[in-house]
Amino acid sequence: MKNIMVTGGAGFIGSNFVRYMLGKYPDYRILVYDKMTYAGNPDNLLDVTAMYGADDPRFDFVKADICDANAVADAITRFSIDTIVNFAAETHVDRSIMDPDAFIQTDVYGTYVLLEAARRHGLERYHQISTDEVYGHIHGDHRSVETDAVAPRSPYAASKTSGDLMAVAYYVTYGLPVTISRGANNIGPYQYPEKVIPLFVTNAIDDIPLPVYGDGKQRRDYQYVLDHCEGIDVVLHRGQIGETYNIGTGGEMENLRMVEILLDELGKPPSLIRHVEDRPGHDRRYCLNVDKLKALGWEPRHSHEEAIRKTVRWYVDNEWWWRKIKSGEFKEYYKRLYGDRKVINPA
Ligand code: NAD
Ligand code: DAU
Repeated sequence: MKNIMVTGGAGFIGSNFVRYMLGKYPDYRILVYDKMTYAGNPDNLLDVTAMYGADDPRFDFVKADICDANAVADAITRFSIDTIVNFAAETHVDRSIMDPDAFIQTDVYGTYVLLEAARRHGLERYHQISTDEVYGHIHGDHRSVETDAVAPRSPYAASKTSGDLMAVAYYVTYGLPVTISRGANNIGPYQYPEKVIPLFVTNAIDDIPLPVYGDGKQRRDYQYVLDHCEGIDVVLHRGQIGETYNIGTGGEMENLRMVEILLDELGKPPSLIRHVEDRPGHDRRYCLNVDKLKALGWEPRHSHEEAIRKTVRWYVDNEWWWRKIKSGEFKEYYKRLYGDRKVINPA
């Protein structure tokens, strides 16, 4: 594996993965293929583009849509691609509730376009980046294992599940060398501030209230993004074709505890917390069993608390990155989602 097309490589996890892979594998070439939606940001790759200039064969960039079969085929041929790692997606649950259309286009149809291109070009590997949301809300103290039934509950989760099922179908039907990884809630540098942690950190820095959905007792597995990238690397190099691997810490944390740590790291008061009307269909709990990936020699390096504190410090140190975003398209989005949202008293 030498020539990897990283779709969605200008987004949050994709850009961290690109940086990680270029640093770890000096003989690999990376093509970022990205449509540059609101979530695709050249600043996420600023250091990479500075280090690997236009003449450097190790890094290239194509601005295009994964739904465009001709553009995908051109890129595969032009850059002699042997592997696709598909991060490209619409990713925010609240946006999928407001406007599901783009989710169906990119996460379902776009995945099909990439799978078909991988098949026609006889690629060595197609890796699908998926999510723990495909398992739906997890009851009791169960931790999702890869063989559990899928039970998505939001338009986002349903579109990602469809992508997974299509990838499996291409493996079973055509023998395409497919692997799938299902990640938990990633946090770290370059995450668009619609997601809860960058939203809350950047609000708190400016003393803007933190809109906690419902009672705030939902449970998530907040994992540091580079732990996820290492897990994907392990699946790419040591994973078995046709298999799915969960990637998370294996633990879980209440949202209110996450907020407590975040405010403590910033030295800001709990009075910034506002409980607001809940997200429709909000999954109460995700929790992954990650033994299958651990059996390949991978271990997460950060606890939830370490990941949250490290992430908070990055946003404190990188206002140049997020202030630009929060003054653009984001303002309209924030008004639409939170403007008329009722403040509640969960007690
Ligand atoms: P993101 O929203 O930060 O970035 C998505 C990227 O995909 C952007 O660069 C965007 O421009 C690009 N993109 C969107 N539609 C495209 C299209 N049609 N063609 C080409 N490019 C397109 O996303 P993220 O949080 O980095 O998530 C990346 C992947 O990881 C997604 O597949 C997501 O479902 C999955 N995932 C995310 C998390 C998480 O916590 N963020 C957890 C598990 C899995
Ligand atoms: O679990 C993996 C998934 O994690 C990824 O597949 C998704 O792409 C990613 O967006 C994320 O989904 P969540 O819905 O869990 O993430 P989000 O950051 O939107 O919310 C995390 C938790 O915080 C969730 O319980 C909802 C809550 N929340 C979120 C926002 C934006 C709030 O209480 N208030 C908020 O304003």
